[in-house]
Amino acid sequence: MNNDFKAYVVREDKEGIFSAKIETKGLDELPLNEITIKVEYSSLNYKDALSSLGNKGVTKKYPHTPGIDAAGIVVSSSSKKFSKGDQVIVTGYDLGMNTSGGFSEYIRVPSDWVIKLPKLISLKYAMAIGTAGLTAGLCVDLLEKNNGIKNKQAIVTGSTGGVGSVAIQLLSNLGAEVTAVTGKNESREFATMLGAHTVISRDELLEKFRQPLSKGIYDIGVDVVGGETLSGLLTCLNRDGVIACCGNVGGANFSTSVFPFILRGNKLLGVDSAERELDQKELLWKKLSRDWKISDIDKFTRTVRLSDLEREIQKIYEGKQIGRIIVSIKS
Ligand SMILES: NC(=O)c1ccc[n+]([C@@H]2O[C@H](COP(=O)([O-])OP(=O)(O)OC[C@H]3O[C@@H](n4cnc5c(N)ncnc54)[C@H](OP(=O)(O)O)[C@@H]3O)[C@@H](O)[C@H]2O)c1
Repeated sequence: MNNDFKAYVVREDKEGIFSAKIETKGLDELPLNEITIKVEYSSLNYKDALSSLGNKGVTKKYPHTPGIDAAGIVVSSSSKKFSKGDQVIVTGYDLGMNTSGGFSEYIRVPSDWVIKLPKLISLKYAMAIGTAGLTAGLCVDLLEKNNGIKNKQAIVTGSTGGVGSVAIQLLSNLGAEVTAVTGKNESREFATMLGAHTVISRDELLEKFRQPLSKGIYDIGVDVVGGETLSGLLTCLNRDGVIACCGNVGGANFSTSVFPFILRGNKLLGVDSAERELDQKELLWKKLSRDWKISDIDKFTRTVRLSDLEREIQKIYEGKQIGRIIVSIKS
């Protein structure tokens, strides 16, 4: 095995000033973990933008290679659980945060971060889903357990983004009538094509909100926005309605009264996919590769290369990406 490989490296040139380029690294620069993986695909998530642009809440030390997702082939393993040649997926934990990440030809990670690729999917499909899709899956799983999906009125915010685009498809495939909220007027058709029954703008959603309680409209919801949007969504749930809260692109703070909870029995459920126990991630990957499998990944993904990352990272940071971005590492 050649010791040198290519990776996207972010450097802090001066305090608070960051730059990124593709560099040659040596395998001996990777952390001393059990499983070395040749990465074939990674994917772009909002957190990667934060890491790439120098957010020290995500990545403390630079130089650093971001990429919280990776799918590839085991090239060496000191764990009995994996052998050379196994096709595997790694999403979350510390990958791409303070551990050298998936925007690279190689990663080396602990065995308890690694999942064998389910039989019915490819490495590329795994990265079409990636952390964003897994998070959408976790939200849908929670909504299903707490209020059911079939024939329910569902709402998805940030609907043309990574989590949102997968959430629309899963909810609609499971029989919900989905309202997709988007800030991109030009992408209404995209949300409809993914299965949304109704598409509304962010402003149209805000008009529905009255504190402390609005008219009940939705039974279930996936919210990636937080802030004022989450405050409002909580006012317009039907009886026993449930919101899965997983993001903060619109703000970290929100306010609510007790009324949705004590008068309508509503629930607000928090979702964290990165640190989920491995066996729970495995169960979810099984679902996403079988009953919940999305039939055509081309309709919600675009594939880019390491050399495209700088531009794509800026775009996701500004909330302008549409669907999921797969990163092909193979040169
Ligand atoms: N909890 C977890 O485990 C977990 C896992 C993955 C992601 N997340 C979080 O989920 C969020 C979304 O991640 P993602 O990967 O889906 O990102 P993404 O691909 O950038 O999608 C976010 C979408 O939100 C909308 N948006 C952006 N800025 C907004 C604003 N200021 N107000 C309202 N809507 C806005 C945009 O969609 P429209 O233009 O269609 O409105 C955007 O495409 C992030 O906060 C991320 O950190 C959490």
